Amino acid sequence: MSSIKRILVTGGAGFLGAHLCERLLERGHDVICLDNFFTSQKSNVAHLLDRPNFELIRHDVTLPIFLEVDEVYNLACPAAPGHYQYNPIKTMKTSVMGAINLLGMAKRCRAKVLQASTSEIYGDPEVHPQPESYCGMVNPIGPRACYDEGKRAAETLFMDYHRQNRVNIRIVRIFNTYGPGMHPFDGRVVSNFICQALAGKDIPIYGDGSQTRSFCYRDDLVEGMIRMMDGPDDFIGPVNLGNPEEFTILELAELVLELSGSRSKLVHKPLPVDDPVRRRPDITLAKTRLGWQPTVPLREGLGKTVEWFRSIDLGNYRPPTPNH
Ligand SMILES: NC(=O)c1ccc[n+]([C@@H]2O[C@H](COP(=O)([O-])OP(=O)(O)OC[C@H]3O[C@@H](n4cnc5c(N)ncnc54)[C@H](O)[C@@H]3O)[C@@H](O)[C@H]2O)c1
Repeated sequence: MSSIKRILVTGGAGFLGAHLCERLLERGHDVICLDNFFTSQKSNVAHLLDRPNFELIRHDVTLPIFLEVDEVYNLACPAAPGHYQYNPIKTMKTSVMGAINLLGMAKRCRAKVLQASTSEIYGDPEVHPQPESYCGMVNPIGPRACYDEGKRAAETLFMDYHRQNRVNIRIVRIFNTYGPGMHPFDGRVVSNFICQALAGKDIPIYGDGSQTRSFCYRDDLVEGMIRMMDGPDDFIGPVNLGNPEEFTILELAELVLELSGSRSKLVHKPLPVDDPVRRRPDITLAKTRLGWQPTVPLREGLGKTVEWFRSIDLGNYRPPTPNH
């Protein structure tokens, strides 16, 4: 039997999706990229359009679609706070109705389906680092809930389709990921710091900057997703994928200044509502079951990301929402 699969990547024109499409094409698979371009643009995958094994569909996952596929990677969802809070009801619909539509497709086609879940399902955790068994501390009525609770509901749907209809699922919980191809106006801390540094503008530090984050390089993360999809059917997750090395926001800002050679100043701003103080993955499960762990140190990954940002023309990017 041929090992070439027909693979659907929803959110395939986004930051992680576009790189995932590249990696799957490299392996010779037939890739269908589906996206409504809410937080991305066609130019992210323009370099793939003339490949005979690549197809691009403009579609919204809240609406059903009928395709014949062997695997689905479900990445469609705005991921940065400024984007998912722009239309919170739509964000929730994207997670929940998107999951229902794609699980239905997977059930009909007997396809394997992987959900790109998130560390946000742990909310503001009281346990450090967070293992998959930790149920989280999410405020269900806060401004981040549309994303956090939407992703939690999607995990529930994945598990129920698996238990009730025996759909072959995988769930990965992605922690902060950065790298070339991030949307320059996504308002996330890495892109924000780099854009401000390259423009010589002040860099905003929320709170005192002592809150920590872990940063996983894009290529490491996508490798983990593919390993999970290709792994044994008795390991469906959820599994944490992220870099367990912790850095303070202040350390990140200083590294960006150093790597970009910028003279920007760091300025302190008030901490946003529900902003988690600490978040770090326990990746024991990924290490033991997938033989996976991040390989790219922050300094190296950030260096490549700074160079990518230096190479792009910001005029070619449209801010997806006014509150970026
Ligand atoms: N990058 C991270 O640090 C991170 C962390 C945790 C989880 N994730 C998850 O990984 C996935 C990809 O994230 P990303 O960083 O590439 O973000 P991204 O915003 O670059 O990509 C998301 C893609 O989904 C598309 N999309 C949004 N709503 C859609 C809809 N209704 N129908 C079809 N397409 C839609 C967007 O246009 C975009 O191309 C998301 O599901 C996100 O929640 C990412």
